[in-house]
Amino acid sequence: MAGNRPEIIINCAASADGRLALADGKQLRISSEEDIARVHRLRNRVDAVLVGIGTVLKDDPKLTVKEKYIDGDARHPVRVVLDSHGRTPIDAQVLNGAAPTLIVTAEECTTEFENAENIRCGRNRVDISRLLIKLHERGLRRLMVEGGSTVIGSFVKEGLFDELDIYYGSILLGGDGPTITAGFSSFSGEDAVRLELVSVERLGNGVLHRYRPVRRD
Ligand SMILES: NC(=O)c1ccc[n+]([C@@H]2O[C@H](COP(=O)([O-])OP(=O)(O)OC[C@H]3O[C@@H](n4cnc5c(N)ncnc54)[C@H](OP(=O)(O)O)[C@@H]3O)[C@@H](O)[C@H]2O)c1
Repeated sequence: MAGNRPEIIINCAASADGRLALADGKQLRISSEEDIARVHRLRNRVDAVLVGIGTVLKDDPKLTVKEKYIDGDARHPVRVVLDSHGRTPIDAQVLNGAAPTLIVTAEECTTEFENAENIRCGRNRVDISRLLIKLHERGLRRLMVEGGSTVIGSFVKEGLFDELDIYYGSILLGGDGPTITAGFSSFSGEDAVRLELVSVERLGNGVLHRYRPVRRD
């Protein structure tokens, strides 16, 4: 139950061997066209989309909705970047003014950004539990977490998700690139995150697994 935080949908695309990117962190297209359309339709339905600074630095995503994938006008979600030390480059696409952007830094950070609102939340590192309450207070009720590996790990480890969508593309990336589980590799057997498989759907040359967390209480 979301309570005083937004409903959270974690979404990512993984290779058949579970990698989110190449070993050097470079992005490689994993999703089929059908899955890309699904992601844009999902963005169009949520209030906010969140990534970590690692993804901004590696992929420079726009995080907006492409009109060609949806019926009617695009409704761009608020873009949220977890960036404790204010490292978002001034020419990053999330600062292009195409949609509202929140750069979330630690309280110590003094960097100001143009074309974005700055939220300070947490000492040394962004405190995601507190941030979620702030987002909820702003009326943001549905949040899509798009990565990368470290950020997904934080949300999963703290049990902060209501749905986990993993699209497995039919590609093997090998190497030691980021994985879905990299952020929570220190889990012991007892702490393993149990999931309920909600649906499995073929989307082009790949398959979407949709999970819900199994709550412990
Ligand atoms: N296949 C996919 O679906 C997909 C989607 C997105 C990204 N990716 C790939 O993932 C890779 C980037 O992943 P990444 O793990 O390097 O970076 P990331 O998860 O995008 O960002 C991690 C950074 O976010 C900041 N952060 C602030 N507060 C945090 C918190 N509470 N929990 C976690 N992180 C917090 C930290 O930097 P500070 O300490 O500086 O704040 C942290 O190092 C890229 O290679 C990208 O291509 C793949």
